[in-house]
Amino acid sequence: MKVCIVGASGKLGQYMVRHALERGHEVVGVCRETSVPKLAAFEGRMTVVPGPTDDPEVIARAVAGCDGVLTVLAPWGVRQYSSGTAQAVLDHARPGARLIFSCGWHITRDGKDTYSRMFTTGVRIAAVLGKLVRAVELDDQVEACRRVFASATRWTVVRGSTLEEGESQGLPVWSRHVGDPVLASNLTRRVDFALFMVEALTDDTLVQEAPAIVGCRTPSALAHAADLRRRAEGHTD
Ligand SMILES: NC(=O)c1ccc[n+]([C@@H]2O[C@H](COP(=O)([O-])OP(=O)(O)OC[C@H]3O[C@@H](n4cnc5c(N)ncnc54)[C@H](OP(=O)(O)O)[C@@H]3O)[C@@H](O)[C@H]2O)c1
Repeated sequence: MKVCIVGASGKLGQYMVRHALERGHEVVGVCRETSVPKLAAFEGRMTVVPGPTDDPEVIARAVAGCDGVLTVLAPWGVRQYSSGTAQAVLDHARPGARLIFSCGWHITRDGKDTYSRMFTTGVRIAAVLGKLVRAVELDDQVEACRRVFASATRWTVVRGSTLEEGESQGLPVWSRHVGDPVLASNLTRRVDFALFMVEALTDDTLVQEAPAIVGCRTPSALAHAADLRRRAEGHTD
Protein backbone atom coordinates (compact mmCIF):
# COMPACT_ATOMS: atom_id res chain seq x y z
CA MET A 1 0.00 0.00 0.00
CA LYS A 2 1.00 3.61 -0.42
CA VAL A 3 0.33 5.23 2.94
CA CYS A 4 0.43 8.84 4.09
CA ILE A 5 1.15 9.53 7.78
CA VAL A 6 -0.06 12.98 8.84
CA GLY A 7 1.86 14.05 11.97
CA ALA A 8 4.70 11.62 11.24
CA SER A 9 7.34 13.33 13.41
CA GLY A 10 5.54 12.93 16.76
CA LYS A 11 5.90 9.96 19.09
CA LEU A 12 2.88 8.10 17.71
CA GLY A 13 3.76 9.13 14.16
CA GLN A 14 7.30 7.76 14.30
CA TYR A 15 6.06 4.42 15.61
CA MET A 16 3.53 4.32 12.76
CA VAL A 17 6.25 5.05 10.20
CA ARG A 18 8.28 2.14 11.59
CA HIS A 19 5.33 -0.31 11.53
CA ALA A 20 4.28 0.79 8.03
CA LEU A 21 7.81 0.36 6.62
CA GLU A 22 8.10 -3.06 8.29
CA ARG A 23 4.94 -4.10 6.46
CA GLY A 24 6.46 -3.03 3.16
CA HIS A 25 4.20 -0.02 2.65
CA GLU A 26 5.43 2.97 0.67
CA VAL A 27 5.36 5.85 3.19
CA VAL A 28 4.79 9.57 2.76
CA GLY A 29 4.97 11.62 5.98
CA VAL A 30 3.68 15.12 6.72
CA CYS A 31 5.10 17.19 9.56
CA ARG A 32 5.88 20.75 10.48
CA GLU A 33 8.98 22.09 8.71
CA THR A 34 10.88 22.47 12.02
CA SER A 35 10.22 18.80 12.85
CA VAL A 36 11.67 17.29 9.66
CA PRO A 37 14.99 16.41 11.43
CA LYS A 38 13.02 14.15 13.81
CA LEU A 39 12.54 11.81 10.83
CA ALA A 40 16.28 11.59 10.02
CA ALA A 41 16.38 7.91 11.05
CA PHE A 42 14.07 7.10 8.12
CA GLU A 43 15.98 9.09 5.50
CA GLY A 44 15.88 7.39 2.10
CA ARG A 45 13.07 5.06 3.17
CA MET A 46 10.17 7.53 3.14
CA THR A 47 9.12 10.77 1.47
CA VAL A 48 8.61 13.80 3.71
CA VAL A 49 6.22 16.62 2.82
CA PRO A 50 6.98 19.50 5.21
CA GLY A 51 4.20 21.86 6.24
CA PRO A 52 1.29 22.47 8.59
CA THR A 53 -0.99 19.45 8.66
CA ASP A 54 -4.10 21.64 8.35
CA ASP A 55 -2.91 23.19 5.07
CA PRO A 56 -5.14 21.76 2.31
CA GLU A 57 -2.43 22.22 -0.33
CA VAL A 58 0.16 20.35 1.75
CA ILE A 59 -2.28 17.52 2.43
CA ALA A 60 -3.47 17.33 -1.20
CA ARG A 61 0.14 16.88 -2.31
CA ALA A 62 0.94 14.32 0.40
CA VAL A 63 -2.11 12.07 0.00
CA ALA A 64 -2.04 11.98 -3.80
CA GLY A 65 -2.23 8.34 -4.91
CA CYS A 66 -2.35 6.99 -1.34
CA ASP A 67 -4.45 3.93 -0.49
CA GLY A 68 -4.48 4.83 3.19
CA VAL A 69 -3.99 7.88 5.40
CA LEU A 70 -3.05 7.66 9.09
CA THR A 71 -3.75 10.97 10.82
CA VAL A 72 -2.63 12.04 14.29
CA LEU A 73 -5.34 14.40 15.52
CA ALA A 74 -3.44 16.69 17.88
CA PRO A 75 -5.39 19.35 19.75
CA TRP A 76 -2.46 21.77 19.98
CA GLY A 77 -2.89 25.55 19.82
CA VAL A 78 -6.18 27.40 19.60
CA ARG A 79 -6.56 27.73 15.84
CA GLN A 80 -8.71 24.71 14.97
CA TYR A 81 -5.66 22.63 14.08
CA SER A 82 -7.36 19.25 14.59
CA SER A 83 -10.53 20.01 12.65
CA GLY A 84 -8.52 21.73 9.90
CA THR A 85 -6.29 18.66 9.61
CA ALA A 86 -9.23 16.23 9.55
CA GLN A 87 -11.08 18.35 6.98
CA ALA A 88 -8.06 18.55 4.69
CA VAL A 89 -7.69 14.74 4.78
CA LEU A 90 -11.42 14.15 4.23
CA ASP A 91 -11.43 16.57 1.30
CA HIS A 92 -8.29 15.39 -0.47
CA ALA A 93 -7.79 11.66 0.13
CA ARG A 94 -8.78 9.63 -2.89
CA PRO A 95 -12.31 8.18 -2.80
CA GLY A 96 -12.21 4.70 -1.27
CA ALA A 97 -8.95 5.26 0.63
CA ARG A 98 -8.77 3.92 4.20
CA LEU A 99 -8.64 6.86 6.60
CA ILE A 100 -7.49 6.16 10.17
CA PHE A 101 -7.53 8.93 12.79
CA SER A 102 -6.12 8.93 16.35
CA CYS A 103 -7.69 10.51 19.41
CA GLY A 104 -8.40 9.69 23.05
CA TRP A 105 -11.16 7.98 25.03
CA HIS A 106 -12.78 11.36 25.71
CA ILE A 107 -14.19 11.34 22.16
CA THR A 108 -17.59 9.64 22.02
CA ARG A 109 -19.35 8.62 18.84
CA ASP A 110 -22.81 7.74 20.10
CA GLY A 111 -22.81 9.11 23.65
CA LYS A 112 -22.98 5.59 25.09
CA ASP A 113 -19.52 5.62 26.64
CA THR A 114 -19.45 5.71 30.42
CA TYR A 115 -16.62 7.49 32.16
CA SER A 116 -15.41 7.53 35.74
CA ARG A 117 -15.89 10.81 37.58
CA MET A 118 -12.10 11.15 37.79
CA PHE A 119 -11.73 10.79 34.00
CA THR A 120 -14.46 13.34 33.26
CA THR A 121 -13.04 15.82 35.77
CA GLY A 122 -9.53 15.38 34.33
CA VAL A 123 -10.74 16.04 30.78
CA ARG A 124 -12.72 19.12 31.92
CA ILE A 125 -9.71 20.56 33.73
CA ALA A 126 -7.41 19.86 30.76
CA ALA A 127 -9.92 21.51 28.41
CA VAL A 128 -10.27 24.66 30.51
CA LEU A 129 -6.59 25.03 31.45
CA GLY A 130 -5.43 24.16 27.93
CA LYS A 131 -7.61 26.86 26.41
CA LEU A 132 -6.69 29.38 29.11
CA VAL A 133 -2.99 29.16 28.29
CA ARG A 134 -3.85 28.88 24.58
CA ALA A 135 -1.95 25.56 24.28
CA VAL A 136 -4.65 22.95 23.80
CA GLU A 137 -8.12 22.99 22.23
CA LEU A 138 -9.81 19.74 23.21
CA ASP A 139 -13.20 20.79 21.87
CA ASP A 140 -11.66 21.20 18.43
CA GLN A 141 -10.56 17.55 18.52
CA VAL A 142 -14.22 16.76 19.30
CA GLU A 143 -15.25 18.83 16.26
CA ALA A 144 -12.65 17.04 14.09
CA CYS A 145 -14.10 13.66 15.05
CA ARG A 146 -17.67 14.89 14.55
CA ARG A 147 -16.76 15.70 10.94
CA VAL A 148 -15.11 12.31 10.45
CA PHE A 149 -18.12 10.45 11.93
CA ALA A 150 -20.44 12.38 9.58
CA SER A 151 -18.43 11.62 6.47
CA ALA A 152 -19.21 8.84 4.01
CA THR A 153 -15.53 7.88 3.70
CA ARG A 154 -13.95 4.58 4.84
CA TRP A 155 -12.85 5.98 8.19
CA THR A 156 -11.81 4.50 11.53
CA VAL A 157 -11.32 6.67 14.63
CA VAL A 158 -8.98 4.90 17.05
CA ARG A 159 -9.54 6.07 20.62
CA GLY A 160 -6.43 5.61 22.75
CA SER A 161 -6.43 5.02 26.51
CA THR A 162 -3.76 6.44 28.81
CA LEU A 163 -0.44 5.73 27.10
CA GLU A 164 2.93 4.46 28.31
CA GLU A 165 6.25 3.81 26.64
CA GLY A 166 7.83 0.36 26.47
CA GLU A 167 8.33 -2.63 24.20
CA SER A 168 5.43 -3.87 22.12
CA GLN A 169 3.07 -6.31 23.83
CA GLY A 170 1.07 -7.02 20.67
CA LEU A 171 -2.08 -5.74 19.04
CA PRO A 172 -4.35 -3.96 21.57
CA VAL A 173 -7.89 -5.25 22.10
CA TRP A 174 -10.84 -2.95 21.58
CA SER A 175 -14.42 -2.32 22.44
CA ARG A 176 -17.14 0.01 21.18
CA HIS A 177 -17.71 1.78 24.45
CA VAL A 178 -15.51 3.16 27.19
CA GLY A 179 -16.86 1.59 30.37
CA ASP A 180 -16.90 -1.93 28.90
CA PRO A 181 -15.06 -4.22 31.38
CA VAL A 182 -12.34 -5.25 28.90
CA LEU A 183 -11.07 -1.65 28.87
CA ALA A 184 -10.96 -1.16 32.64
CA SER A 185 -7.15 -1.15 32.89
CA ASN A 186 -6.99 2.06 30.78
CA LEU A 187 -3.39 1.57 29.63
CA THR A 188 -1.80 0.97 26.22
CA ARG A 189 1.82 1.06 25.06
CA ARG A 190 2.22 3.88 22.56
CA VAL A 191 4.04 1.54 20.16
CA ASP A 192 0.95 -0.72 20.19
CA PHE A 193 -1.46 2.19 19.65
CA ALA A 194 0.57 2.81 16.48
CA LEU A 195 0.38 -0.90 15.60
CA PHE A 196 -3.42 -0.81 15.88
CA MET A 197 -3.59 2.24 13.60
CA VAL A 198 -1.43 0.58 10.93
CA GLU A 199 -3.24 -2.78 11.16
CA ALA A 200 -6.57 -0.96 10.77
CA LEU A 201 -5.54 -0.03 7.22
CA THR A 202 -6.22 -3.61 6.14
CA ASP A 203 -8.99 -4.51 8.58
CA ASP A 204 -12.34 -3.83 6.92
CA THR A 205 -14.26 -4.82 10.05
CA LEU A 206 -13.09 -1.48 11.49
CA VAL A 207 -14.54 0.66 8.69
CA GLN A 208 -16.78 3.35 10.25
CA GLU A 209 -15.99 2.14 13.75
CA ALA A 210 -14.53 4.12 16.66
CA PRO A 211 -12.70 1.41 18.64
CA ALA A 212 -11.56 2.30 22.16
CA ILE A 213 -8.36 0.34 22.73
CA VAL A 214 -6.42 -1.13 25.65
CA GLY A 215 -3.18 -3.13 25.87
CA CYS A 216 -3.65 -6.86 25.25
CA ARG A 217 -1.51 -7.78 28.30
CA THR A 218 -3.33 -5.52 30.76
CA PRO A 219 -5.25 -7.19 33.62
CA SER A 220 -8.67 -6.25 32.19
CA ALA A 221 -7.80 -7.59 28.72
CA LEU A 222 -6.41 -10.82 30.16
CA ALA A 223 -9.47 -11.30 32.39
CA HIS A 224 -11.75 -10.75 29.39
CA ALA A 225 -9.79 -13.30 27.31
CA ALA A 226 -9.98 -15.85 30.16
CA ASP A 227 -13.72 -15.26 30.44
CA LEU A 228 -14.18 -15.87 26.69
CA ARG A 229 -12.15 -19.10 26.96
CA ARG A 230 -14.29 -20.30 29.89
CA ARG A 231 -17.48 -19.61 27.93
CA ALA A 232 -16.10 -21.39 24.85
CA GLU A 233 -15.45 -24.43 27.06
CA GLY A 234 -19.07 -24.39 28.14
CA HIS A 235 -18.76 -22.93 31.64
CA THR A 236 -21.65 -20.65 32.47
CA ASP A 237 -20.51 -19.23 35.85
N1 LIG B 1 -0.70 11.47 25.33
C1 LIG B 1 -1.64 10.66 25.77
O1 LIG B 1 -1.65 10.22 26.95
C2 LIG B 1 -2.77 10.21 24.86
C3 LIG B 1 -3.77 9.39 25.38
C4 LIG B 1 -4.77 8.93 24.52
C5 LIG B 1 -4.77 9.30 23.20
N2 LIG B 1 -3.80 10.13 22.72
C6 LIG B 1 -3.83 10.50 21.30
O2 LIG B 1 -2.65 10.01 20.70
C7 LIG B 1 -2.28 10.85 19.61
C8 LIG B 1 -0.83 11.19 19.75
O3 LIG B 1 -0.63 11.87 20.95
P1 LIG B 1 0.75 11.89 21.73
O4 LIG B 1 0.47 12.54 23.03
O5 LIG B 1 1.34 10.53 21.71
O6 LIG B 1 1.61 12.93 20.93
P2 LIG B 1 2.59 12.76 19.71
O7 LIG B 1 2.53 11.43 19.12
O8 LIG B 1 3.93 13.23 20.14
O9 LIG B 1 1.97 13.73 18.64
C9 LIG B 1 1.87 15.08 18.80
C10 LIG B 1 1.68 15.67 17.40
O10 LIG B 1 1.32 17.01 17.52
C11 LIG B 1 2.25 17.83 16.83
N3 LIG B 1 2.42 19.06 17.58
C12 LIG B 1 2.99 19.23 18.78
N4 LIG B 1 2.92 20.52 19.16
C13 LIG B 1 2.29 21.17 18.16
C14 LIG B 1 1.91 22.50 17.94
N5 LIG B 1 2.14 23.46 18.83
N6 LIG B 1 1.27 22.81 16.79
C15 LIG B 1 1.02 21.84 15.88
N7 LIG B 1 1.34 20.57 16.03
C16 LIG B 1 1.97 20.24 17.15
C17 LIG B 1 3.49 17.01 16.75
O11 LIG B 1 4.25 17.43 15.67
P3 LIG B 1 5.80 17.86 15.81
O12 LIG B 1 6.61 16.61 15.69
O13 LIG B 1 5.96 18.80 14.68
O14 LIG B 1 5.99 18.53 17.16
C18 LIG B 1 2.93 15.61 16.57
O15 LIG B 1 2.59 15.37 15.23
C19 LIG B 1 -3.26 12.02 19.63
O16 LIG B 1 -4.26 11.80 18.68
C20 LIG B 1 -3.84 11.98 21.04
O17 LIG B 1 -5.15 12.51 21.07
C21 LIG B 1 -2.79 10.58 23.52
